[in-house]
Amino acid sequence: MTAVGFMAPSSKASGLAGVVAGETAISAVDREGLDLTYRGYSIRDLASQATFEEVVYLLLYEKLPTEEELRFFCQDLVRQRGLPPEVCQILERLPGSANPMDILRTGCSALGAFEPERDPERDQWKVAKRLVACFPSILLYWHRFHRDGQRIETATGEPRTAAHFLSLLRGEREISPLEVRALDVSLILYAEHEFNASTFTCRTIASTLSDFYSAVTGGIGALRGPLHGGANEAAMELILRFKTPDEAEEGICQMLQRKELVMGFGHRVYKKGDPRSRVLKEWAQKLAELRADQRLFPICERIEKVMFREKQLYPNVDFYGALTYYFLGIPIPMFTPLFVIARVAGWSAHIMEQRAHNRLIRPMGEYVGPSPRPYVPMHARS
Ligand code: SDX
Repeated sequence: MTAVGFMAPSSKASGLAGVVAGETAISAVDREGLDLTYRGYSIRDLASQATFEEVVYLLLYEKLPTEEELRFFCQDLVRQRGLPPEVCQILERLPGSANPMDILRTGCSALGAFEPERDPERDQWKVAKRLVACFPSILLYWHRFHRDGQRIETATGEPRTAAHFLSLLRGEREISPLEVRALDVSLILYAEHEFNASTFTCRTIASTLSDFYSAVTGGIGALRGPLHGGANEAAMELILRFKTPDEAEEGICQMLQRKELVMGFGHRVYKKGDPRSRVLKEWAQKLAELRADQRLFPICERIEKVMFREKQLYPNVDFYGALTYYFLGIPIPMFTPLFVIARVAGWSAHIMEQRAHNRLIRPMGEYVGPSPRPYVPMHARS
């Protein structure tokens, strides 16, 4: 495998569009949008037959687990959900009004200070599982402390991350198997996506031989932006602005006339649709029926129709992903943190792959600044 270190030919493409920046064996994104595979397995098969924990194992260990391997893996994750008391104190001191992405970013960094990765070869697997296990704990310990004034016990025994998340969020309220499976599938679909901006950030940081926590903290920062992971929250805020499909059509057309971006649509790679969106749309529809909602799903379908008719753009993972989370009763500011909870699996696999075939990632810039010129003493400046 060629080390990721910008072996690609030089390119002036803005945003590195179309630039192949190295090789990876973790996932393949079909440019036609027909499929996405994780280590050769189609997300359609994984979303219909696997669990998120199986997919995490596949991404980290390059194979699907046997029943016994999965059982031990889930037990290992469950054991690592507790937080150091010092991290809990930090979470309590962070403002309740903070953006939850800042809570995950700070929590990750704090955990790295108390549980540093000393020997990458030996510790990277442990850190990867620790972060998969305790990001829900970090987010929901902070949320429940500031919302309810409660210091919750985050180490629940629930083997599935999806059920664990919903039980911590709701405080043990009734959770239907349909809701757990909907969240489980969304985590599978959000888990990995080749050299997206946040993953490439992680790889760039890992390529300097920095530590695991620094790479993941960088990934969280990149994912926060509305052009990337933050789009699911922005998409939901947009959907909620409209009361009817006709109002949505009019509103979207006005936005396009003003050259505004409609969040949840378009993609740098998929130009004929995002295969993940098609799966999430089915789950959003199931949850709409469960919630007896007859308003939001038709509004979303109309937005989808208008965006294709006016701009030939398709919904990406974040559009129906947002509606799925909304119907699950998840607070909108937690939508992108859920993306982190899933994507830390892919980030971890990429950090380890980068380390295994490392070359410092350092592209070149084409200089377009002023020509060489003499220094001007202070008194001669205007
Ligand atoms: C994710 O890379 C990944 O794999 C990311 C991701 C992952 O799993 O990690 O898939 C997750 O980040 C999905 C994308 C979430 N972001 C959004 O939904 C934000 C809205 N989308 C756009 O910002 C945009 O589509 C991007 C950023 C996703 C892609 O941008 P590109 O490839 O740079 O495309 P572009 O901006 O050059 O757009 C081409 C044209 C432009 O019009 P013209 O100037 O040619 O007239 O399409 C227009 C754009 O204005 N366009 C949009 C649009 N997306 C593109 N117009 C309105 N609304 C949009 N959403």
